Amino acid sequence: MTFGIDDLPVRDELRGKSPYGAPQLDVPVRLNTNENPYPLPEALVERIAERVREAARDLNRYPDRDAVELRTKLAEYLTQTSGYAVDVRNLWAANGSNEVIQQLLQTFGGPGRTAIGFEPSYSMHALIARGTGTGWISGPRRDDFTIDVPAAERAIAEHRPDVVFITTPNNPTGNAVPAETVLALYEAAQAAKPSMVVVDEAYIEFSHGASLLPLLEGRPHLVVSRTMSKAFGAAGLRLGYLAAHPAVVDAVQLVRLPYHLSAVTQATALAALEHTDTLLKYVEQLKTERDRLVAELRAIGYEVTESDANFVQFGRFTDSHETWRKILDRGVLVRDNGVPGWLRVTAGTPQENDAFLDAVREVKKEQNT
Ligand SMILES: Cc1ncc(COP(=O)(O)O)c(C=O)c1O
Repeated sequence: MTFGIDDLPVRDELRGKSPYGAPQLDVPVRLNTNENPYPLPEALVERIAERVREAARDLNRYPDRDAVELRTKLAEYLTQTSGYAVDVRNLWAANGSNEVIQQLLQTFGGPGRTAIGFEPSYSMHALIARGTGTGWISGPRRDDFTIDVPAAERAIAEHRPDVVFITTPNNPTGNAVPAETVLALYEAAQAAKPSMVVVDEAYIEFSHGASLLPLLEGRPHLVVSRTMSKAFGAAGLRLGYLAAHPAVVDAVQLVRLPYHLSAVTQATALAALEHTDTLLKYVEQLKTERDRLVAELRAIGYEVTESDANFVQFGRFTDSHETWRKILDRGVLVRDNGVPGWLRVTAGTPQENDAFLDAVREVKKEQNT
């Protein structure tokens, strides 16, 4: 017998669990992880090289622990794109929004505390809760994947969670959450505890609607989290951030590791922010492709959940895993998120989307015969 994980004194709640990870298979078209399919433009690659070269000269020193220049630029980006003014004091950045969420749960969750999310939703919320010793409550959604406000309010009143997650647009379903829903759940969370409400806007740049950032006004328990992994096409960079009341930014300082954002990360993110206009043009193309996928999938005869993200949930299948496999057999990898009857496809380049649509047309024909 070889020595394995079960022979180690691993925390009880981690025993027998699997790590998060989408299966990456070597197939021609990979539309399974909600990445942006467009590589960074060459001018930006050059600018990153320049800024990283400058940063390299000082790598004998620790980076700016407070990442002030980067946080200032991220605040400017949010202000320009949402019309709601935030500044460096409202903004905090970390290695991907996953780390932002981890820091929030380390600060506001933890042993003896709980967090709630309305599922199906981004599964890392529950996994990071587990990793930080925070109890997890699975809140309800309707059959059409919208949040059932009265049921959600009841769940919050009953469980009095310390942290409430609302993902908009939601992953894996794609639908956006209306501002009124967020406001109702914020009120319920304040009445119950008061607790922190985290609005995960990882995909907001792809939405037909506006960011919920203006809701931060007068709501110190609200946090909006964002990422450069999707719209900025920089998933490899690992840069996520949050906007909130300055007290929230002060609070997460209690758990952040010193110098958590490397000088190389800060330099790269600053270079990308100089090219926001070009990068956001790709977002427009992806939105057009996303809308095409929705229309074509419906024309083929699939049911499609309304999408405000760079991916589309489609169904319904008696056996979604079998359909996933049939699509894969045709060289296209989509995601089976474990939502019974549904699969999710990320909007890729027009050519990738054509390959996907050809594959599902064939599968549909085969399943109808
Ligand atoms: C809803 C949601 N939030 C956060 C993330 C994490 O993004 P990041 O790459 O910034 O850690 C993802 C990634 O897929 C996501 O779907």
